[in-house]
Amino acid sequence: MRENLSPETIAIVKATGPALRRHGVEITTRMYARLFEDASIKDMFDQAAQASGEQPRRLAAAILGFAENVDKLQALDGAIARMVQRHVDTGVQPDHYPKVAAALLPAIREVLGEEVATDEVLAAWAEAYTFLADILIGKEQAAYAEAA
Ligand code: HEM
Repeated sequence: MRENLSPETIAIVKATGPALRRHGVEITTRMYARLFEDASIKDMFDQAAQASGEQPRRLAAAILGFAENVDKLQALDGAIARMVQRHVDTGVQPDHYPKVAAALLPAIREVLGEEVATDEVLAAWAEAYTFLADILIGKEQAAYAEAA
């Protein structure tokens, strides 16, 4: 896992975060359309939505929001602990993370267009996502090991 993201990546993610959030619903809708082509992932969310009474739409919004806070994650410890808990409850595994990235990044490009969502912008978002994913994966694996 990387110690930290580069200042360039942080600057790009922060600069493009507001545009992504403005188009959040559209990005989310497209992301889930791609992600739920995998029935095993769709089932995880159906169950989670039933259990919590919430729509899984929060996931994409959370990823965008947390990526914008990549440079001050220590302030988000409580929120991260909650995510880890939800993920452990719903059985999220390390190999799910690339699938979410593969659904999210093309959705960003489709909605913002390639003039805004350039290769450089998408690479920065991919890096920020991976950085967060590594933190969550580490904590989730520790929680699974403890429960076993
Ligand atoms: C960096 C990547 C990710 C972030 C930042 C993230 C964040 C979150 C957040 C904030 C929640 C809501 C927690 C709460 O109830 O307060 C959540 C729930 C959830 N996440 Fe993740 N997540 C990520 C990756 C994933 C992956 C890879 C999967 C697997 C497909 C996944 C599946 C779920 C499920 C099933 C829920 C419960 C949804 C519900 O309550 O309806 N997440 N996630």
